[in-house]
Amino acid sequence: MTARRCFIAGNWKMNKTVTESLALARELRGLVSMVRHVDIAVAPTFPALHPVAKALEDSNVQVAAQTCHAEASGAFTGETAAPMLKDAGASWVILGHSERRQFFQETDAGVNRKIGAVLKAGLLPIVCVGETLAEREANRTLEVVSTQVKGCLDGFKADVGARFVIAYEPVWAIGTGKTATSRQAQEVHAHIRSLLTGLWGAEAAAQVRLQYGGSVKPDNAAELLAQPDIDGALVGGASLKASDFAAIIKAKAQA
Ligand code: PGA
Repeated sequence: MTARRCFIAGNWKMNKTVTESLALARELRGLVSMVRHVDIAVAPTFPALHPVAKALEDSNVQVAAQTCHAEASGAFTGETAAPMLKDAGASWVILGHSERRQFFQETDAGVNRKIGAVLKAGLLPIVCVGETLAEREANRTLEVVSTQVKGCLDGFKADVGARFVIAYEPVWAIGTGKTATSRQAQEVHAHIRSLLTGLWGAEAAAQVRLQYGGSVKPDNAAELLAQPDIDGALVGGASLKASDFAAIIKAKAQA
């Protein structure tokens, strides 16, 4: 079996000025400098991305963007292209976050195009999927997640897909303080892994890192991260406090 390196990413969403982002990045850098066995990333707002990347240079904390446009440049007022993010210091781009789907009409087909742009720019995607509360209550979780995974990944081959990260984030658990139980999360993660096996074969599927997201906190991280198919976390609220985010990372590092 492939040993998957744990990957914990902090999604700062639309929070923190540039000054505040720099302070948070510097504090985090100090707190996690001794962590060796976990990959770490933070996703600041666009104005803060380059300064934060500079502040994290030569550290063990990478930088992610929260979205991007599917085109490399052009007349798309207000948008940011993947090559610009690469040049600004990003390594990853979060795509298809439920807030993008809910408030900005992002679709699986749109995410699919953006993955292409991200790869072309030399970046890697963190692709978010997850069901709403209504869908879970209607017993449609696995069906909804299957449609999202297949739609987002359509056309990408095993060799490149093996390097993707997929974040399972049940919409009802995001920012609500309601975490999926480790059993609920593991069930969906195992389902995603079996979908990937169908798409790309067992060897590639075993390399894809699957993050859980939705109210991950220092006190529930260890149990979630101990599940066999949970290879990391995408953390929103708790990533805005360096000590909480570091505690989540250390929950794994010390496990
Ligand atoms: P949360 O957000 O940790 O605040 O629930 C998770 C996310 O949206 O990525």
